[in-house]
Amino acid sequence: MTKRARVAVLISGRGSNMAALIYAARASDCAYQVALVTGDRPDAPGLDLAAAEGVRVERLNYEKVHFFQRLHASLCDQSIDVIALAGFMRILPADFVARWAGRIVNIHPSLLPKHRGLNTHHAVLAAGETVTGCTVHEVTAVLDEGPILGFTEVAVLPGDSVESLDERVRIAEHQLYPRLLAEFCARRSRQII
Ligand code: GRF
Repeated sequence: MTKRARVAVLISGRGSNMAALIYAARASDCAYQVALVTGDRPDAPGLDLAAAEGVRVERLNYEKVHFFQRLHASLCDQSIDVIALAGFMRILPADFVARWAGRIVNIHPSLLPKHRGLNTHHAVLAAGETVTGCTVHEVTAVLDEGPILGFTEVAVLPGDSVESLDERVRIAEHQLYPRLLAEFCARRSRQII
């Protein structure tokens, strides 16, 4: 097998997608390894989980001026190939995206291009949709845009609440993200060789 891509996962919260990415990478034929977990909140619960799973963690504090420079330095220190956003709640500045162009992916809890931004499940219910889902896409400077790598549809049930929908969409996310990240990394390594 070719060298595994070194992935940094960026989180702000509980990190259930991060956990799915870490556990999927335990398969010996997975095209990536999680080399770093970091984010904008040193107390994010997901960081404790990553550390307990033996993954390198950096607890950065968000501050307006230097945060993305410090993040960039940490990513370079760890020879990161690909960044996977997993519930990272900061908008990436255009210069950061440009430095990592073609190497950042994100998961969003809707069928993009529908329902970009926050409060997606609420928007899905308010619109009376019968199907929603999650989407993995490459990150560009425009929020929740960028080439779509794949998606999973999830049925909206009568009586669904934001919470019940969130729970089911997240099950789909945990299947979709590791698979598409691995495919993305495998494609990249074939292009580089
Ligand atoms: C997920 O719903 C993901 O789609 C969105 O943020 C949430 C992160 O959840 N980008 P978790 O921290 O991975 O549980």
